[in-house]
Amino acid sequence: MNILVTGATGFIASHTIVELQNENHTIIGIDNLCNSSADTLDNIKKITGKDIDFYECDIRDTDKLKDVLSKYKIDCCIHFAGLKAVGESVAKPVEYYDNNIAGTLSLLKVLKEIDCKNIIFSSSATIYGTPAFVPITEECPKGICTNPYGWTKHMIEQILIDTQNANKDMNVVILRYFNPIGAHPSGLIGEKPNGIPNNLMPYITQVACGIREKLFVYGNDYDTPDGTGVRDYIHVVDLARGHVKALAAIEKNCGVDIFNLGTGHGYSVLDVINTFEKVNNIKIPYEIVARRPGDIASCYADPEKAKRVFGWVAQYSLSDMCRDSWNYQHRLF
Ligand code: NAD
Ligand code: WQD
Repeated sequence: MNILVTGATGFIASHTIVELQNENHTIIGIDNLCNSSADTLDNIKKITGKDIDFYECDIRDTDKLKDVLSKYKIDCCIHFAGLKAVGESVAKPVEYYDNNIAGTLSLLKVLKEIDCKNIIFSSSATIYGTPAFVPITEECPKGICTNPYGWTKHMIEQILIDTQNANKDMNVVILRYFNPIGAHPSGLIGEKPNGIPNNLMPYITQVACGIREKLFVYGNDYDTPDGTGVRDYIHVVDLARGHVKALAAIEKNCGVDIFNLGTGHGYSVLDVINTFEKVNNIKIPYEIVARRPGDIASCYADPEKAKRVFGWVAQYSLSDMCRDSWNYQHRLF
């Protein structure tokens, strides 16, 4: 297939491109490089031996996007482009709504003009808010988001569903990611943390290499086995393969379909610290502090639907995720 990847040089998209190229798909990539670097393209090529047709372009620039894409017959668009920092979205809501929502609207207009009827969208478990139950199935009601970033995902899902409803020949697959960590085992691509990391794993790796003195563990009084927050961490390569598998749903003309991409296992903050220490043989000093506003106790997927419908099951363990995160990130410092 000819696959358009927006946000192509980003963390999850770059791993997805590797897996798509391994399955012989042809990639047309778009990114405005606001949170990534074009060097990633060379590193993808080192892994797969293949080029992608890449264009530096903001998806909100509808005219340029149309110019770039009108020479292709695109079979499917995988839409990763977006801003994703939860804290920043609270400080800059207008920028987040503009980038993520206006960007998606612009993309949808161009996809219609070039007659691309298939889209896979990067959504997030954040749309479940405080989940009504765990493990979370796709039937779990969407919740109240605690930040503008989460609302952009919540709203874009609805925009895509309404668009498909008005265009029944379209297929929309919404993938709700849980907590992606890890990196390609080659160490060539991964997540480059920007500033002080919000997320647990990039913070741990910065403590591991001495940039930060210790990790602050946000609360140990949750209703979880050890009191710290429980999440469904998923290796980014498993997540990437989920996109390749999801193409099968598109090929079967699914209309709108929604899938959780998680492992189904919940690990606490202390589990992650202990596993990281054991696998990498590095001590992670930490201090228990107050809960972080907006955090929930426990969030993990029931990934059974993705297994049943397109045969996807996560393969990598938490130890693999800790090893590969460190293997990539220690080279950055
Ligand atoms: P990332 O920041 O590494 O990748 C996003 C890419 O989109 C970046 O390369 C950025 O430069 C590009 N981009 C942003 N706005 C753009 C625009 N207007 N035009 C063109 N390019 C633009 O983030 P990621 O972790 O790879 O996330 C990819 C997608 O998955 C995002 O939509 C994110 O919200 C979603 N997601 C991420 C997580 C996570 O924890 N990483 C969890 C759930 C969902
Ligand atoms: C995980 C656990 C923290 C940092 C966020 C977004 C979500 C999604 C994924 C995009 C929690 C604890 C963390 C630290 C800590 N992104 N923690 N000390 O909050 O589950 O999800 O990223 O869609 O939208 O909200 O991930 O990695 O920030 O936190 O104790 O320095 O680690 O309290 O229990 P989260 P996280």
